[in-house]
Amino acid sequence: MKIEARNIIKTFKSGLSEVQVLKGIDVTIQSGEFISIVGKSGSGKSTLLYILSTLDQPTSGQVLFDGTDPFALNEDDLHMLRNQKIGFVFQFHHLLPELTALENVLLPPRKLNQHLQKQDEALELLASFGLADKAHRLPRHLSGGEQQRCALARALIMKPAILFADEPTGNLDSANGELVMELFEKVNREQKTTIVMVTHDPDFSKRADREVVLVDGVLDTSSL
Ligand SMILES: Nc1ncnc2c1ncn2[C@@H]1O[C@H](COP(=O)(O)OP(=O)(O)OP(=O)(O)O)[C@@H](O)[C@H]1O
Ligand SMILES: [Mg+2]
Repeated sequence: MKIEARNIIKTFKSGLSEVQVLKGIDVTIQSGEFISIVGKSGSGKSTLLYILSTLDQPTSGQVLFDGTDPFALNEDDLHMLRNQKIGFVFQFHHLLPELTALENVLLPPRKLNQHLQKQDEALELLASFGLADKAHRLPRHLSGGEQQRCALARALIMKPAILFADEPTGNLDSANGELVMELFEKVNREQKTTIVMVTHDPDFSKRADREVVLVDGVLDTSSL
């Protein structure tokens, strides 16, 4: 799936004043491309990722998925798009504390009543992240890095057309960070998944097809 961002502006109110966090972002991400977004803390990377992934709306400007504005879709179609086409991994993963690792991974298919047929695949995904023997644990009985990998498995279970990841290796040691990068590369290569990854890690960033640099809410055009 191809994503286009057209003149994205995002402002937040802070007290009486308004802060412009994204100042007119234009970027096109081709179907099957793996791009990384880098930039200093506070430059707007997470804000941009939320908007590109339909989780937040821009103050003005447009995001298009294969030419379609997701916010022009009706509620049901927007939910379908998010559930079946888009995978998310957040900077601060959001596992449900009362569900086991496996149940968390099976949440997206559960919404479509496909959790039973997806169970083996979920266990395989967890195993590929080194969590084979931890599938039935609650998140609080997993380490931070294990929780992060579980959140990744959940993002991948529906084989999304696009994967958005906000610092997916941020909480991981180098071996587990490498594991995640290799899995991203595999999914990108084999399933042609478009990947948009925010990262602080320059070595991981360079492994993407393209690196775009965000400076103070503006894309450094020399990086486009
Ligand atoms: N909901 C909000 N309300 C007000 N300001 C916000 C909000 N969300 C983000 N900001 C501000 O927007 C700016 C960009 O935030 P953002 O989270 O996008 O940065 P980032 O590049 O992801 O940083 P980091 O590398 O630390 O994760 C920051 O100054 C932040 O304080
Ligand atoms: Mg961030």
